[in-house]
Amino acid sequence: MRDERGAHGLVRLRGRNGALDVGAGEEDGTHRRSVVAPPASAAAGRQDGDVSADPGSEIPTLADVVAARERIAPYLGPTLLRRYATLSELVGADVWVKHENQNPTGAFKIRGGINLVAQLPEDERERGLIAASTGNHGQSIAYAARAFGVRATICVPADANPLKVDAIRSLGAEIVSHGRDFDEAREHCAALAEREGLRYVHSGNEPQLIAGVATATLELVEQEPEIDVILVPVGGGSGAAGACVVAKAVRPEIEVVGVQSEAAPAAYRSWRERRIVEDAMGTFAEGLATRVGFELPQRILWGHLDDFVLVGEDDLRRAIVQMIDATRQLVEAAGAAALAGALKLRERLHGKRVALICSGGNITLTQLRAVLGDR
Ligand SMILES: Cc1ncc(COP(=O)(O)O)c(C=O)c1O
Repeated sequence: MRDERGAHGLVRLRGRNGALDVGAGEEDGTHRRSVVAPPASAAAGRQDGDVSADPGSEIPTLADVVAARERIAPYLGPTLLRRYATLSELVGADVWVKHENQNPTGAFKIRGGINLVAQLPEDERERGLIAASTGNHGQSIAYAARAFGVRATICVPADANPLKVDAIRSLGAEIVSHGRDFDEAREHCAALAEREGLRYVHSGNEPQLIAGVATATLELVEQEPEIDVILVPVGGGSGAAGACVVAKAVRPEIEVVGVQSEAAPAAYRSWRERRIVEDAMGTFAEGLATRVGFELPQRILWGHLDDFVLVGEDDLRRAIVQMIDATRQLVEAAGAAALAGALKLRERLHGKRVALICSGGNITLTQLRAVLGDR
């Protein structure tokens, strides 16, 4: 598939099933920026403390996503989008799975890491990178740092998924293990960045990360242009924000629905209340385990996300097994959240063409045994 600029700055996307015209309007000076609420920090005082991007930083456009795709293409092939009859029957809709679990690090985040590190200014490359992560963002930054010859340090919570920690280490990054959960690791990371003069790569407040992860949705709408609804798991919200940027530029009728655990609902509540809020964090789904909404993704979600559902921890456990059973592939808890959300919205999705973002597959054998244990 290729894109080319036509008159009026439209980007023409050529897919298997014909062409789509999408407004990207960069060259004619009408740079297409989303009109969304002002930064929450301006009104409410920042609560996500360690925003590394300028709070007024621009929201990525479709043109940024198209450029990101060019940048990541030498490193990542497109992931599979496949329709599953069993999942379609289960949900009562036409169900497709976007297999982001098939990326080299086993998760969608790598798209963002490569897009960001590829554009680092020389002084930041020299300083080296630091990021906080429950694992997949860390793998993404470690992978990209290695590819571009940059030093990386990743802060993980003390009880981080060992599979992900080993993978980060084997990619050559230094591991700093600190705190009871992601947010404690994140706060420690921000302090270390300050002390050591490292470039802090936040997992959500980074336009280039959002543009990078949005390439998954760009592929999706090219692979299946007639899709009606995209369900996206949400932790900090970069994936859902990226899905909004693409879907709303390509075909605004595509509904984008976020899914989060009711045991860690900070992003959900931040979206509903249109302000950054903090809440409990008690989910076993480490990809969804944030205690606070992130400003840049939230600003995009406030403007464009169609709906947001919470699912229970048992719903997630069940969905992992259903996804593995249907797809014959490994799926971690966050990667199964979109299915749990679709089952919750069963009535509303009836007869629609629904895409589930299977965001990652990094489940440990211990976690797998636990979810399969009583089945
Ligand atoms: C597998 C997986 N799914 C979903 C998410 C949530 O992504 P985001 O923070 O962009 O909302 C993550 C975050 O690390 C993840 O690792």
